[in-house]
Amino acid sequence: MSQQRMNVQAPIERLLAERWSTRAFDPDRPVNSEQLASCLEAARWAPSCFGAEPWSYIVADRFTDAAPWQQVVEGLTPKNQLWAKHAPVLIIAVSEPIFSHNGNPNRWAKYDTGQSIICLCLQAEALGLVSHQMGGFDPDSLKANLGIPETLHVMSVTALGYAGQTASLDADFQPMETAARTRKPLSDIVHAGRWGETYQPPASAGWEARYQETTIEQLPWFYAELDDDIQQSLDTLHLTSGSALDLGCGPGTQALSLAKRGFVVTASDVSWTAIESARKLAVAEQADITFHVDNVLNSALNQQFDLIIDRGVFHCFPESNDQQAYLDTVGRLLPAGGILLLKCFHKDETCEMGPPGRYDEADIRRFFADDFELIEARSTRFGSPSCADSPMALFCVLKRLT
Ligand SMILES: Cc1cc2nc3c(=O)[nH]c(=O)nc-3n(C[C@H](O)[C@H](O)[C@H](O)COP(=O)(O)O)c2cc1C
Ligand SMILES: C[S@@+](CC[C@H](N)C(=O)[O-])C[C@H]1O[C@@H](n2cnc3c(N)ncnc32)[C@H](O)[C@@H]1O
Repeated sequence: MSQQRMNVQAPIERLLAERWSTRAFDPDRPVNSEQLASCLEAARWAPSCFGAEPWSYIVADRFTDAAPWQQVVEGLTPKNQLWAKHAPVLIIAVSEPIFSHNGNPNRWAKYDTGQSIICLCLQAEALGLVSHQMGGFDPDSLKANLGIPETLHVMSVTALGYAGQTASLDADFQPMETAARTRKPLSDIVHAGRWGETYQPPASAGWEARYQETTIEQLPWFYAELDDDIQQSLDTLHLTSGSALDLGCGPGTQALSLAKRGFVVTASDVSWTAIESARKLAVAEQADITFHVDNVLNSALNQQFDLIIDRGVFHCFPESNDQQAYLDTVGRLLPAGGILLLKCFHKDETCEMGPPGRYDEADIRRFFADDFELIEARSTRFGSPSCADSPMALFCVLKRLT
C-alpha cells in the first residue's frame, strides 16, 4: 500500500513517489534471494566520490539464518524493535571513513553510503518490496555482536520485506501508516542562484503532478455530471447552444456535459495529463470537443466564446497580479454580452484542504467590477448542493460589458 502525497509541487517518477517508510511488514513472507541480490546490486551501483565505494553491508535474513538477524533486532532501539521485528531482512550499512587510494579522510563517505542505500530502497520499491531505514540502534552492540571492525562507521539499519497489515502494528504506530506525507515546500529548501534568493516552482507543475499521481475519479473536484449550479443557470438563462469554453477543464466532465447539451465546446487546462484524460473521455463518449493545454494566466487561446465556465479555477489565484491576468484573459475571450459562470470556494469555508482563494459576493463584485455585470451570486456547495459535507462554494453569473 502506498500513501498519498499531499503537497506535490512538480511531477516525479512513480517509483520515487511511491517509496515510503512503512512500519507494517509481513512477518511470514520472505524476500527471495534473487530480489535481495537485486537490491544489493542497486546499492553497489551508486555513485561515490573518487569512485571509492566506501560502503559495506551486513545482510541478516531471518528465513535463512535467524541468529544474526536476532542480534540486529536486539541492537535496535526498543521502539524500533516493536515493528522492525516483523521485517524478514535487516541490512546494516557501514561506511569506511578513509580513502583507500591515499589514506586521507573521506569526508564524503557517509554521504555516499546514504546514496547507496537509497538506491537499494528504490530497487526494493520497484520489486514490490517495502523498506524502512533506521538510525535508532546501538552501534557498539552491533559492532561487538556482528564483528564489524572498530574503525568503520555503522550508518543505518534498513528493514526490508513485503508490506503487512497496519492492524498488526502497535496502536501507537497505526496512525503513522495513514498520515498524509508532507515535505517542506521547495521555496524553503531551494535558493535561486544565491543563498536566500527565493525559488518558486511554477504552479502549473503542481497541477501536472496532481493529475499524474491521482486517479481522475479520486480527485476531490471530480463530478461526473454537469455541475448542478451550472445546469440551473443554463436553464434559467435559456442557454442551449453556441460556443462554450470549459476553462481549467480538469477531468473534462463539464466540457462533455456541455457538448451533450448542444454547445460547441473548447476545453483548456494547464495540465497536459488532465487534457489527455479529458480527451479520452470525449473520444469514449463520441463528443467532438477541442482541447488545448493552456495557461489562463498567459493564454494563447485566440477565439471568443458565448459562454465560459470556470468551476474551481479562479480560486487557485490568490495573488492580485494573477487575478488581473485571469481577468485579462477572460475579458479577451468573452465578447460583450458573453456569460461567465464561475464557481469558487466560499470565504466561509474554513477547511484546511482546498484552494488558497476563498471569496464572497463583495469580493467577486470588486474583482470583476470594471468589465462585468454580476447578474447573480449564490451560496452553494462543491459537489452535490444537498450534501452538507461538501465544501461551501460561491456560484456567480457574470455578463461581459462592452
Ligand atoms: C538515516 C535515517 C534514519 C532513520 N531512523 C529512523 C528510526 O530510527 N526509526 C524510524 O521509525 N524511522 C526512521 N527513519 C525513517 C524516517 O522517519 C522517514 O524516512 C521520514 O520520516 C520520511 O518518511 P518517508 O521515508 O516515508 O518518506 C530514518 C530515516 C533515515 C533516512
Ligand atoms: C479544482 S480543479 C477543477 C477542474 C474542473 N474545472 C472540474 O470542475 O472538474 C482546477 C483546475 O484548474 C486547472 N488550472 C489551475 N491553474 C490553471 C491555469 N493557470 N490555467 C489553466 N488551468 C489551470 C487545474 O489543472 C485543474 O484542472
